[in-house]
Amino acid sequence: MRMVDLIEKKKEGEALTEEEIREMISGYVSGSIPDYQMSAMLMAICFRGMSEQETVALTLAMRDSGDVMDLSEIPGTKVDKHSTGGVGDKTTLIVAPITAACGGRVAKMSGRGLGHTGGTIDKLESIPGFRTGLSREEFFQVVKEAGLAVVGQTGNLVPADKKLYALRDVTATVGCIPLIASSIMSKKLAGGSDAIVLDVKTGSGAFMKTPEAAAELAAEMVRIGRMAGRRTEALITNMDLPLGYAVGNALEVQEAVSVLQGEGPADLTEVCLQLASRMVALSTGRGEAESRQAAEEAMYGGAALERLAAMVKAQGGDPEVIYHPERLKIAPIAHEVRATRKGYICRMDTEGIGISSMLLGAGRAKKEDALDYGAGLILQKKTGDRVEPGEVLAVLYTSDGSLVPAAETRFLESLFFSEEMPAEEPLVYRRVGGVR
Ligand code: URA
Repeated sequence: MRMVDLIEKKKEGEALTEEEIREMISGYVSGSIPDYQMSAMLMAICFRGMSEQETVALTLAMRDSGDVMDLSEIPGTKVDKHSTGGVGDKTTLIVAPITAACGGRVAKMSGRGLGHTGGTIDKLESIPGFRTGLSREEFFQVVKEAGLAVVGQTGNLVPADKKLYALRDVTATVGCIPLIASSIMSKKLAGGSDAIVLDVKTGSGAFMKTPEAAAELAAEMVRIGRMAGRRTEALITNMDLPLGYAVGNALEVQEAVSVLQGEGPADLTEVCLQLASRMVALSTGRGEAESRQAAEEAMYGGAALERLAAMVKAQGGDPEVIYHPERLKIAPIAHEVRATRKGYICRMDTEGIGISSMLLGAGRAKKEDALDYGAGLILQKKTGDRVEPGEVLAVLYTSDGSLVPAAETRFLESLFFSEEMPAEEPLVYRRVGGVR
């Protein structure tokens, strides 16, 4: 096989065989296929697309490029959840403990934030002592004891994606459904869970800007998951505005705890209950209504909060901060952003709000940047709210006052006003691939 022939084939819109795809991926990971040839192939895929068989073959070849987790020694059904990324998305901190409290097992690998989106690992590391780098034995032990564990991606998991994603990032080939679907699903399949619930975000803070594009990506991922023998479902959820009010690591942990105490924001609570219900259904075999009821009971009855505290303790963190979240360290400078005009907030550029939080120190522009775990922002107003001049729109938190002006400017540029109240958008657009 010559890579140049495969590029030519794809350029002409022909389908690659499974064998060709496997050879291409192993050649790229081993270094025998250079970046410039893979870049040409990625661009050809963006223009010509991939058939269903090709996308599955690509996903499985990527999965098999490194270690694949075997979770079979952990009793029970293991269920994973993946979000395509958003702003204020602290759902894992809520849905994983709810699922564990209902009898499912969650052995989850999560990522760090980059750019405008946050990452669960950064949020958890804002808890004093919390360790996200566990050995395999420790990881399994925590899941057995607490019902859930969340760790960073360790070992040699899907090395093909690490290389390909870095290349896609600099060759304008990220936004392509077969490439996104294979990137996400290769990691989910390598993670070893029996069932997978995908939270595919749509809107101004998401990769997929429209519900239709999000549904197309979701359908592709659900199909891949099922062909690989995993119970897989997706929800299409709204990321046209941040989820909840808190953006930033420690601030988001506090808000997640408030949801598990039954006192969280309505939008975040509802999205989490819907995601958790599906995780419970897939991992315990309960029906739809029963799963929802179990999820609500676990949340409002305090069992899920206990699961979260148990995981924090088992991973070296201070579980008391889960019962007393005010003990989490929040950055000392609190700057109020005030409205200069009146009207309804008719739209939010959610990506811009994520960038504003990043500029305060809560996120990274580059992989090696250090984080200010207590930095971020708390929205006081969101899309649909009426605002009068002088009213507080948000409070910005940082440890470095020199960062405030740029963050405030970016925040204000992200809000759009009108005289009319905007139409309400759904929180969850639809479910893709309902299993039961
Ligand atoms: N997240 C991933 O892991 N991969 C993509 O390609 C896009 C989002």
